[in-house]
Amino acid sequence: MSAQQLFASIAADMQAVDAVIRQRLHSEVVLIRQVAEYIIQSGGKRLRPALVLFAAGAMGYRGTNHHELAAVVEFIHTATLLHDDVVDESELRRGNKTANELFGNAASVLVGDFLYSRAFQMMVSVNNMRVMDVLSDATNVIAEGEVLQLLNCHNADVDIDDYLRVIRYKTAKLFEAAARLGGILADADEDTERRLADYGMHLGTAFQIIDDVLDYSSVEAETGKHLGDDLAEGKPTLPLIHVMQQGTPEQAALVRGAIENGGRDDFEAVLAAIHATDALDVARRHARDEAKRASDAISSLPPSIFRDALLQLSDFAVARNY
Ligand code: IPE
Ligand code: IPE
Ligand code: MG
Ligand code: MG
Repeated sequence: MSAQQLFASIAADMQAVDAVIRQRLHSEVVLIRQVAEYIIQSGGKRLRPALVLFAAGAMGYRGTNHHELAAVVEFIHTATLLHDDVVDESELRRGNKTANELFGNAASVLVGDFLYSRAFQMMVSVNNMRVMDVLSDATNVIAEGEVLQLLNCHNADVDIDDYLRVIRYKTAKLFEAAARLGGILADADEDTERRLADYGMHLGTAFQIIDDVLDYSSVEAETGKHLGDDLAEGKPTLPLIHVMQQGTPEQAALVRGAIENGGRDDFEAVLAAIHATDALDVARRHARDEAKRASDAISSLPPSIFRDALLQLSDFAVARNY
């Protein structure tokens, strides 16, 4: 199932979110409009705004603040992508040249800052202290995750726990916030809100593990991103950690050297070691466990098409190829 099919039950709401996004992107500064519209109009799966809408729907929310908050979450996500592509020196995003390739690093960083701060203006307009608490916390933790990851780059001693910490911070935290916000808007009780948050956290963890698998296995035309960016940056992701722990001494040494040196020269040899040790399947299994935990967290919510969509989303996070 594609993300688009998954979103059938929220199609009208997603259009409303798009309208908020378009309206809130406005700035008198032309370069801001150019860069921000360039990356936002190039698409993206819009998973995080969908999470806000599904979680609010599952809790019976009747109002319009979920549109604003869904747009806020997409703005925060987009800001992290603008910054992330500078840090990762990536050239392709959403099937197009990255903003850093086209407009330069400085413009990408500054427009990322614009999107972050616009997101904060928007969340203030919702006038709910819990909402601001959750979103400011998430934004701060994402930044910590990206810095932690920077510290882990070219470090072949990073273990699974270190890796999981980075992805919980940099990726899962925003999924957690998105799902929790739906509950907060609908005045869900504490236990339900925590279940939604747990769901988002496990979903986001599964999602990033698969993103890291796709960096070694995807078709660029499907992900719209270059393969091998992670190895080029010397990122110790789960497939590489598996080879170092379970491979032969030669395979482990090869991967260790590739992480320490970075670059693309070792990509084919590393890929061979990954396949020889079944590292991608091991990582996919890990993602499946996380997705299962996500589904379990919300199994006791009242049945609805929105809860079903959340359950399908956890399957999508693992089965996806883009
Ligand atoms: C990319 O996220 C960054 C990660 C956390 C892996 P998405 O894969 O959701 O990016 P878009 O928004 O669909 O382009
Ligand atoms: C996700 O990590 C980055 C953020 C959460 C900002 P990646 O670096 O793996 O994301 P992609 O692969 O560039 O989309
Ligand atoms: Mg990246
Ligand atoms: Mg990636």
